[in-house]
Amino acid sequence: MIQILDKVFHLTNGKFSYAFYVKNGKLVHSYFGKALIVTERTLSNSAVAFGLKDNTGRDCECFEYSELGGGDYRVPAIVVRNGKCISTDFVYSSHEVLKTKPDFGMPALRNGGQTLKVSLRDDLLKLELYLYYTVFDNGLARRAELKNLGSDSVVIDRLMSACIEFPAHGYDIIDLNGRWGRECNVSRNPAGCGIKTFASGRGVTSHQHNPFVAVVDGDATEHFGDAFGMNLIYSGNFDIQCETDEKNRLRVNIGVNIAADGITLNGGCAFGSPEVAIVYSDEGIGGMSREFHKLYRKNLLNPKFADKRRPVVVNSWESMYFDLSEAKFLDFIEGAKGMGIDTIVLDDGWFGKRDSDNSSLGDWFIDKAKFPNGLKKIIDCCKKNGMDFGIWFEPEAINPESKLFKAHPDWALGVDGRERRQMRNQYVLDFSRAEVVDCIFKQMKAILDEYDISYVKWDMNRPLSDVISAEKYIKFVSGVYELYERLNKEYPDLIIEGCSSGGGRFDPAILYYSPFIWTSDDTDAYERAHIQYGTSLCYPLQTLSNHVSVCPNHQTGRTIPLCTRGAVASLGSLGYELNLGKLSEEEREEIRRQIAAYKADAELILTGDLYRLLNPFETGGKFCEEIVSPDKSRAYVVYLRGLNECNMPLPPLRLRGLDETAVYTVKEKNLTLTGGDLMYGGIDLDVYGKDFGSEILHIERIA
Ligand code: DGJ
Repeated sequence: MIQILDKVFHLTNGKFSYAFYVKNGKLVHSYFGKALIVTERTLSNSAVAFGLKDNTGRDCECFEYSELGGGDYRVPAIVVRNGKCISTDFVYSSHEVLKTKPDFGMPALRNGGQTLKVSLRDDLLKLELYLYYTVFDNGLARRAELKNLGSDSVVIDRLMSACIEFPAHGYDIIDLNGRWGRECNVSRNPAGCGIKTFASGRGVTSHQHNPFVAVVDGDATEHFGDAFGMNLIYSGNFDIQCETDEKNRLRVNIGVNIAADGITLNGGCAFGSPEVAIVYSDEGIGGMSREFHKLYRKNLLNPKFADKRRPVVVNSWESMYFDLSEAKFLDFIEGAKGMGIDTIVLDDGWFGKRDSDNSSLGDWFIDKAKFPNGLKKIIDCCKKNGMDFGIWFEPEAINPESKLFKAHPDWALGVDGRERRQMRNQYVLDFSRAEVVDCIFKQMKAILDEYDISYVKWDMNRPLSDVISAEKYIKFVSGVYELYERLNKEYPDLIIEGCSSGGGRFDPAILYYSPFIWTSDDTDAYERAHIQYGTSLCYPLQTLSNHVSVCPNHQTGRTIPLCTRGAVASLGSLGYELNLGKLSEEEREEIRRQIAAYKADAELILTGDLYRLLNPFETGGKFCEEIVSPDKSRAYVVYLRGLNECNMPLPPLRLRGLDETAVYTVKEKNLTLTGGDLMYGGIDLDVYGKDFGSEILHIERIA
């Protein structure tokens, strides 16, 4: 709901209130937090009268969209220069409520209703700034757009999607940081004094920082307290700056990280920021995650796939790497038959002369030395055995050792007169050029049209380098979205799994197109539990693609019981990363059971509410997640012990989110208890007594 009276704006979904008003021509932020009851009368008495703080005053404004050079000395949301001046003075000019959220040509939250558009003007620079706000059942979307009303060009150095002010309150800041094989570490730190930055300058989202930040009460826990989450719907360079000033007030600026030379905005043209999804919960960090999950399930993911179970796949990468042949692959398919696998995925190595990672990216035609019959024989074999077929591409990549590079050396990102830098023996294609995207689309189309392929794994294995301008970085990302759009349009039923050396591009914009993303190249269940825990802070479990792989694990050398590998992978979209035919009959039987059980529980896992009960980052590796059905009638719990400890009893596990007066059974323990017993008393665990033991519990309401 959007309430407006006399230039006081109150946005609410009944759970949060977000308020700002116009004072002396400036937009002043007044409140963000638990929903306030705001009546016409209180609104008419202005923001101050309905209990919201009047933040104006010398040198202490909390601006709705901060700018440079006007007496605000904290980080600005907008910086524009025209060659003579870098100081702006945007003054409120009008507002309107649009019936629906306008489409602005980038991935964004879907089905947005009423949208508040506030216009501000800098008459000297002849610029108009538009701020957009859309309220959703589970969050708020914001973005900004700048229009050059004059005829001379200006340069944009900064145009953040949102600037969000928090009062002096002693907040903590949570971010998700990492590296290859160790994505989404959860770090929580006091806001402190000064500026904390989480950013990517790699041209892609990056393993290093996720475009997410949370601001939580200093005493908030997983289950209690105010938690605010912000997640940029973008897949390129981003910037999140959290500045705490001398009065302890916190300002978060989140948006695109525009590189040094800025974006030139010619007369009459406009430039828009991507959208940021903002959520609030008074139920702690867990409540914030549940808001994100609902928001993304309802308003971000392609509705065609959103709450549908993703196919259970077996992927060839870890069992064959580049050592592929038709015979080996037929054998791989044979091994998967009768196991409950839905889709066989042929990973890297099937095209060009791709015998290692130093050639053929860009040459998307079948290597007949490995597959003399093309893909026909292997796809027929999948189909005969009731399975679908999926295939790997790395569309944005090119090896210098490829036909494509020989034909079009200028298609790789590069700086004239300087040798390009290789990473993983490859360059990145210049996706800012339409002809490059078109060529890759046509090559993919040729494969997808010739064969019965229902699934594509879209990988991206290196950051950008040798980029000549800020504009190029931005247009590159647009080119990526353009290819996604064309594929989605041409093949509406095609499922595209996102991937970037694991979770290097785990962001909401990719999720707009890809219903799930390969969470990490680290398939060790113990480490994966950490990665999945962190990823779930803002992304719903169904978007996490998790595979069971062999032991000793290829990344850590560790051996973990198969039951635990299956349990951890079940907390998301389950798949396998091993040659099922090479396992013992006992292991195959266990996997058959795992898949059948997962399929039976999938609806609950996909549509339930997540409660994180044990945080492996704080408990030396103990991990527990519970998923409760929306009607509280069922729950699915996975507990992972981590290292076994001598004489260390496990405390009773206290569940959450159940109906305290209802009666439930705990199937695996043959127990009948009330929701209250389960939540306040807890249940004793009997975790398989070895390192990395685990337990799965099914809770069902019976009365
Ligand atoms: C990185 C991905 O994360 C892996 O799963 C695999 O697809 C390789 N690339 C293939 O090169």
